[in-house]
Order: sequence, then C-alpha cells, then structure tokens
Amino acid sequence: MELNNKKIEEEINFKNVVKTPIRWFGIIYPYFLFLIVVGGLFYVSNLNSINENKIKPTIIDSTRLKSELPVRMAVRIEGVNVKEIAKPAAELIAKGRELYLASCASCHGNEGRGDGIAGAGLAPAPRNFLQKDGWTNGLTLADMFKTLEEGIAGTGMAAYEYMPVADRFAIIHFIHSLMGDYPENTPDELEQLNIKYKLADGRILPNQIPVEKALKIIAEENLPLLNKSIAYGKVISINQNKIESIAKAITKEEVAAYYLSKSDLWRRSNNDFKEYVSIGLPDNGFKAGIYLLSEEETTQLRTFLADVIK
Ligand code: HEC
Repeated sequence: MELNNKKIEEEINFKNVVKTPIRWFGIIYPYFLFLIVVGGLFYVSNLNSINENKIKPTIIDSTRLKSELPVRMAVRIEGVNVKEIAKPAAELIAKGRELYLASCASCHGNEGRGDGIAGAGLAPAPRNFLQKDGWTNGLTLADMFKTLEEGIAGTGMAAYEYMPVADRFAIIHFIHSLMGDYPENTPDELEQLNIKYKLADGRILPNQIPVEKALKIIAEENLPLLNKSIAYGKVISINQNKIESIAKAITKEEVAAYYLSKSDLWRRSNNDFKEYVSIGLPDNGFKAGIYLLSEEETTQLRTFLADVIK
C-alpha cells in the first residue's frame, strides 16, 4: 500500500501542480476538449432553431384578411357615354387627381408608387403604377375599370362598384397621366366594356349592411322569444313528474317551447297539435313518441302547454 501511494506521488506531484497552475492544464484539457466537441455538436444539430427569427416579421398576409361589407345606402349609378369619357380630357384628369388622393393614395401613394402608409405590410403590396409588369388585370382603361368594378379577390384591393362610373374613368385617366406612356384601348374594346358592364344604361345598387350587423339584428328581433322560450322550457321540465306525457313526447323543453311560441295553430285540437309538431320533427324539441300518446294524454299535454306558453 505504502509503495503504491509513493508511486502515484511521484507521477503527479499535487503540491507542485498547485504552485504552478499551468500544469493543471495538462490534467484537465481533455475535459475542455470534451465540452467543446459536445457544445459544437449541440450547436450544429440545432442550427435551424438557433437561426430562427425571434421577432415575427410584420408582413400581413392579406389573403387571410376578412373584410366586412361597409354600410352603404342604395345608390343610382348613372349611365354614361363611354366614348366621351374615355378621352383623357384635362378637367377629367384634374377631377381624377382629387378623387385619387382621397380614395386611393392611402395605399398607392401620392405619386402612384404603391408606397402609401395604409398599404404598408399588405401582401401582395399595393401596385406601383410606374412599374409596367406583373399586373393582374392590366394597364388599359378597360383593364383598370374591371379592377375597380370587381376588386382583386384575396388582396387588399377592394371593389369600387359604388363609385360613379365617370369618377372611376377620371381616376384611371389620372393614373395614366402618372404613368406617362400606357397602352390604349381600341374603340372596339371600349364598346365591349360598355356592353359588359352596361355602362350606358346605369343601374341601381341596393342598400348594403355588414353581414355581422344583419345577423345581430335578426338575433335581437328573436331575443324576446328566445328568452321566453327558455323560461317556458324550465316550467315544462319542472312539471315532468306531474305530467307523464312530457317525457314521452318532448326531448328538449326549451326548443319545443320555442317551436310552439311561433304559432297558435296547435292550440285548436289534438289533431292540429300533432300535425303542427310532426312538421318540425325531429329538430323542434319533440320526439316521435308523441304519436303513441292516447287521446287523453294528448289533451292533457296540449292544454298544459297551452297554459304555459302564452
Ligand atoms: C387598402 C389599400 C388599397 C386602396 C385604398 C386601393 N388599392 Fe388598389 N391595390 C391594392 C393592392 C394591395 C393591389 C395589388 C393587388 C394585386 O397585386 O393583385 C392593388 C392593385 C391595384 C391596381 C392594379 C390591378 C392589376 O391589374 O394588377 C389598380 C389599377 C388599382 N389598385 C387601382 C386603385 C384605385 C383606382 C384605387 C382608389 C379608387 C385603389 N386602387 C385603392 C390596394 C389598395
């Protein structure tokens, strides 16, 4: 034992090692090596997540945006003489400029470079009118009219079909004036446009309210009835023990109450009652068991319900 200890002391003289720290390195460098190799392997195997952007990019995918219908009063779109307003007269361009600045510049920019603040972050970005390639519908008057009439589905470009036709022509003339040179329509193409959108006739566009608003109005109109039905439903289910036929004929008390509240037809006789209920089966809260009720049970159920549902 003693001999062994002595031998180790000769190989590693710890006292000396402590005095000259550089010697430590010789002993512990394999651990450093190990750590570097493991760390390196870890880094390489996680390169993807290490390089991932921690801050989300701010580009909004406008194809996922759902836009609500804006509220609009019905408007009359006046008929126009397409040949007349297709000429880029100076006063039309001037009017178009004002309209453009009011309705389009927020996205397309004052000079038409597609750099308006409202358009920042839209994908696809608002069109830069000074760039001639990559248009969806095209650069001619007829092409741009189509864009304004129908919008471009799945992008931030909405339809402007409520805007008077002459105003839309004016805006397009102004955009053309920004572009400098642009392809012109042939008289034939203008006639096609005229026919396609019945521009000479004019038309009346109906009132429009947002879908969500319409749904709310419908819900609110029905709300008193719904609330009452819930109350009636409670009364019906409380009486289940007293009146056996309730359990035999009704599955959902509230729904049944709602269904019965909508008409008085069922109050007149047992036949009318069964007939009215059978029309709405199986979604009206009743079940087919109602056909198995005896005449007596039916009378009892009908008079009870007529009493509860006012
Ligand atoms: C909310 C932002 C926004 C507003 C406001 C807007 N646009 Fe656009 N517009 C866009 C976007 C986005 C595109 C690109 C659609 C695409 O690349 O298909 C576009 C594309 C267009 C195009 C090119 C269509 C094509 O064939 O590629 C025209 C023309 C155009 N807009 C005209 C107008 C006019 C005129 C107005 C005003 C009456 C207007 N836009 C208002 C966002 C807007």
